[in-house]
Amino acid sequence: MSEQHSPKQQPTASAPAPTPPAASEGPGLTLYGGTGTGRRVTVRDLARAKQAGERWPMLTAYDAMIASVFDDAGIPVLLVGDSAGNNHLGYENTIPVTVDQLVMLTGAVVRGTKRALVVADLPFGSYQVSPAQALETGARFLKEAGAGAVKLEGGVAMVRQVEALVTAGVPVMAHIGLTPQSVNVLGGYRVQGRGDEAAAQLLADAKAMQAAGAFAVVLELVPEELAARVTAQLDIPTVGIGAGAGCDAQVLVWTDMAGLTPGKLPKFVKQYADLRGTLGDAARSFAADVVGGSYPGPEHAFH
Ligand code: KIV
Repeated sequence: MSEQHSPKQQPTASAPAPTPPAASEGPGLTLYGGTGTGRRVTVRDLARAKQAGERWPMLTAYDAMIASVFDDAGIPVLLVGDSAGNNHLGYENTIPVTVDQLVMLTGAVVRGTKRALVVADLPFGSYQVSPAQALETGARFLKEAGAGAVKLEGGVAMVRQVEALVTAGVPVMAHIGLTPQSVNVLGGYRVQGRGDEAAAQLLADAKAMQAAGAFAVVLELVPEELAARVTAQLDIPTVGIGAGAGCDAQVLVWTDMAGLTPGKLPKFVKQYADLRGTLGDAARSFAADVVGGSYPGPEHAFH
C-alpha cells in the first residue's frame, strides 16, 4: 500500500450494510450487485457502465475465502494486485512478488468466485522487457489461473506490451499515476500529475493506453481535478485510488478497507470495519477459554 501517511481513519458506525441491487440481465444489468446473473462480469459490461454513467467498486483479493465474501457482496471486479506483496505475503512492497506467487493467488480467487471479473497484476519485471515477455506472462494468468484480464503499470512506454496482449486475446487494465513498481525511481509514494507538464503527460499516458486497447485505466494518487479531466476525455472507465470522486470506479486494497492493515493508512482510505480488532478479540477470547479450561465444553466433545 502507499506509504503516504495520514491519521488513521476510524471505522464507521455499525449501520446495517446496504444490500446490492437485484440481479437483472441484459441492458438493465447493474455492475454492483446482480449476483444471480449466472455468468461473470465482462469487459463489455464495464464499457456499458461507462456509457450509462454507472459507477462501480473494485477491491483487491488474495485468497478464495475473502474473494467469495466480496463476490457474494456483489463486487463486480476483483483485483489480485501485487499489493499482495505487502498485504498478504509479508514483503515491504510490491517489488519482490513473483509471477508464480500471483498465479497461485489468482487461481484461488477465481475458484472462490462465480461472478466477479478477476483481474491479475503482472508483477514487476514480468512484462517490461518486451511485448513477447508481456504476452507470455499474461497468457499464464489466463491459462493457469483462469483470470479474465491482467493489469500492468505504465503509460506511453507500455503501448507495445498492451497491443501485444490485447491482440492475442488478453484484456488489459492499465495503471498510471503513482505506479508502485516504480517506487525506487519515483522516490516515494507521492501524488503524481501535479503541474502542467506532469498533467499533460498523465493525460497522454491515459490516451495512449486507451488507443493501445486497454479496457480500463487505474489512476493512483492523482489530483481530483486532473482525474476528472482524464475521465471525461476517455471512452474507457477510469478506476481511481486516491484520485478523488470524479472517476468512473473506485478501488481499495481490501485489508485497508476492512481495517486489517496495521498502522496508519493513506489519507484516501476509508475504513469500513475493524477486522484487526475483531480478530484480535476473537483470538484472545479463544486463548482465555483454553487457559481457563472452559473450551472445549461438553457440547464440543465426542463420546
Ligand atoms: O496492487 C494493487 O492492489 C493495485 C491497486 C491498488 C490498484 O495496483
